[in-house]
Amino acid sequence: MTVICAFGMQWGDEGKGRIVDLLAANTGVVVRFQGGANAGHTVLVGDEKYVLHMLPSGVIQSSTVNVVAGGVVIDPWVLMDEVDDLARRGISLDDRLKVSDRAHVVLPYHRLMDQAMEKLRGAAAIGTTSRGIGPTYGDKTTRDGLRVADLLALRDSRDSRPSRDRLLGNVVARNEILERAGLDTLDPQTVLEDAQEVAERIRPYVTDTTEWLLDAWEAGRDILLEGAQGHGLDLDHGTYPFVTSSNTGPSAVGSGTGLPPKAIDHVLGIVKAYTTRVGAGPFPTRDEEAAGRYLADKGREFGATTGRPRQCGWFDGVLARRAVRSQGVDAVALLKLDVLSGLEQLQLGTAYELDGCRIDAPPALADDWARCRPVYSAYDGWAAEIGDVRRFEDLPAEARTYVRALQDVLGVPIEIISVGAERACVIETARGVPVSA
Ligand code: GDP
Ligand code: IMO
Ligand code: MG
Repeated sequence: MTVICAFGMQWGDEGKGRIVDLLAANTGVVVRFQGGANAGHTVLVGDEKYVLHMLPSGVIQSSTVNVVAGGVVIDPWVLMDEVDDLARRGISLDDRLKVSDRAHVVLPYHRLMDQAMEKLRGAAAIGTTSRGIGPTYGDKTTRDGLRVADLLALRDSRDSRPSRDRLLGNVVARNEILERAGLDTLDPQTVLEDAQEVAERIRPYVTDTTEWLLDAWEAGRDILLEGAQGHGLDLDHGTYPFVTSSNTGPSAVGSGTGLPPKAIDHVLGIVKAYTTRVGAGPFPTRDEEAAGRYLADKGREFGATTGRPRQCGWFDGVLARRAVRSQGVDAVALLKLDVLSGLEQLQLGTAYELDGCRIDAPPALADDWARCRPVYSAYDGWAAEIGDVRRFEDLPAEARTYVRALQDVLGVPIEIISVGAERACVIETARGVPVSA
């Protein structure tokens, strides 16, 4: 039995969905433990492309049970539309989906509040995905939120009053702010009726996922924990305030699932061979010249949730090394190496320079982080396309040198190299890439 936590070490979109789908072939249980529909995880199987926002990326592998655990903020409309869409495409989740009764629910006013708050921030806007993530986690923290169990109680005439009162009170209070921001307000009764309706769609899947997961763990089942977003967007460790509203790595697994933190056996950090970012905030290794445009174009770097173009640049060793050390990463999956083919020279950020001093760790203030200049090591590029390569030794010599340099910077073995979005496009190196040529 193994419990693996796979999570993003950059600013999201590292290819978590693709790796989770791959690993899920050998894992019985796949779990989302934080974030919400701000995630957009892509799985490509033949001609079929699946973009998952709420469901774990294990759903395409038919032998998996998929759990949306208590640390996730659940948009029940997005979740159920995803379930229905998969059913239309021949993938049934009837006995394969467990939704936590403790997870907080994203309601229509959370999405509107997300927009209102961004509008009020003006030039300092975060560039959120507008999925209501911040306001929902905010309500959770201030104890004004509704959980999935509340949603199910809305119709029940005996039990429903506290949940219903909280919902109606929230709509009235949020309407005042929405009005101030010049946005449409909501009719409390309509919000209640819509919530009651979606509650019936989600009800068959709802359970105490903590108890279910503890039973699965104690029974020795393999469990794969799927992070959303990435370490640079982590609420505590990222480029605050240009972050998301949850912790994005293994440190969130205990609170987000109810499993004990010591349940994790293996932490797999996921990185792209370069860096991308969508939304506002510091990005020291961004390249706004030809190379950045090449990466954007060849890597098809458009947001899977919002369709926004992703900013592109070189690998940021400072951010990745910090993620390795603070999240206890055992090994790394390196994605999109194939996108680098065709570049004459590659840069690899190994440190930052701030106010004339070299630093090896990210600064606390986003403003300082944005002023950091990367210290680069340059590597020769390679011309050959590598999508068909399946063994490390068959990669061009320059690619092997670059991957070895990445492994040195990371300080842990690179055990999976992805050279294409398809399931088969993978080089497994088991104990890391060989150190010598
Ligand atoms: P996630 O949010 O971390 O799951 O990543 P996204 O799905 O948002 O973005 C990753 C994109 O890269 C998706 O379009 C994937 O299909 C694609 N992708 C994943 N791995 C590879 C790879 O090794 N090479 C290429 N060219 N594309 C990849
Ligand atoms: P996956 O799981 C990339 C970014 C947004 C914004 C900031 C805050 O697909 O990697 P939020 O809506 O969470 O309040 O937005 O975080 N962001 C992501 N960027 N990938 C994601 O998810 C993201 N989820 C949020 O662009 O900068
Ligand atoms: Mg994504």
